[in-house]
Amino acid sequence: MKHLLKMLDLSTEEITEILDLADQLKYELKHNIPHPHLKGKTLGMIFQKASTRTRVSFETGMYQLGGYPLFLSSNDLQIGRGEPVQDTARVLSRYLSGIMIRTFEQKEVEDLAKYGNIPIINGLTDFCHPCQVLADLMTIREFKGKLAGLKMCFIGDGNNMANSLIVGGLKTGMSVSIACPKDYQPPKEILDFAAGYGDKFEMTESPMQAAKDADVILTDVWASMGQEGEAEKRRKAFAGYQVNDELMAVAKADAMVLHCLPAHREEEITEKVFEEHAKEIFEEAENRLHAQKAVMVKLMA
Ligand code: CP
Ligand code: NVA
Repeated sequence: MKHLLKMLDLSTEEITEILDLADQLKYELKHNIPHPHLKGKTLGMIFQKASTRTRVSFETGMYQLGGYPLFLSSNDLQIGRGEPVQDTARVLSRYLSGIMIRTFEQKEVEDLAKYGNIPIINGLTDFCHPCQVLADLMTIREFKGKLAGLKMCFIGDGNNMANSLIVGGLKTGMSVSIACPKDYQPPKEILDFAAGYGDKFEMTESPMQAAKDADVILTDVWASMGQEGEAEKRRKAFAGYQVNDELMAVAKADAMVLHCLPAHREEEITEKVFEEHAKEIFEEAENRLHAQKAVMVKLMA
């Protein structure tokens, strides 16, 4: 494993190794056991979109590992004024031990990996959000004791979260059902991947069908970063794609609910369901820290 660009690149064994290491690092942090695996290393963190969790968990995580994180806003970098990624990658490779980037196009992340020679970590693109999904898998395993054999259900937009959940869920032996409106399905690349898993994958326009007997229900905002101009149109398209009491009634009685956050209450999830599952949702947010520390150790130690 040289980079973390997308879940599609990871083998099942690599995912399991990351989750095992994340559990260990979480244990060490809780028991004040030092774990300075990245002493003397530096991580550049390039943000072309807003962030609370990704920024703070990477920055703190790098510090806990004994390394030094640099926050690089695209407003201040020459990349924001049009310097090509090819050049940025070759320059930053000479200063840093690794780069985490949050941006729009997946190609930009892939290009950083192609032209640079240090590990690149995808901190969210329009296509995928692998760091979040590793934390989600870690949280599901923590609460349910396993992944294989569980049913994961995603309700809403066939977006970056849906894409990574489909791949991460199927690769770890879960069955995955996704409910999304016809015009908001995941891209062909993801559907082609999922087709290889036969009836372990289901896509429907019916949230109730997707949620039936689910062990884990996930959702995400209807308008992602960069889609704010379409918010009104999307609100109409996604009416009915809400995680609420009716939907929870068809899932397993002990079903978990996860949300990558930020959440829009009374849009994709009701306040009531959100608060009833706050324990899982905020453990999921915490697990971003542990899962990403595991990724950084795997790539940079
Ligand atoms: N879930 C997530 O990636 O949150 P941020 O946008 O706050 O980083
Ligand atoms: N789909 C959301 C996820 C935010 C963490 C977005 O891209 O804005």
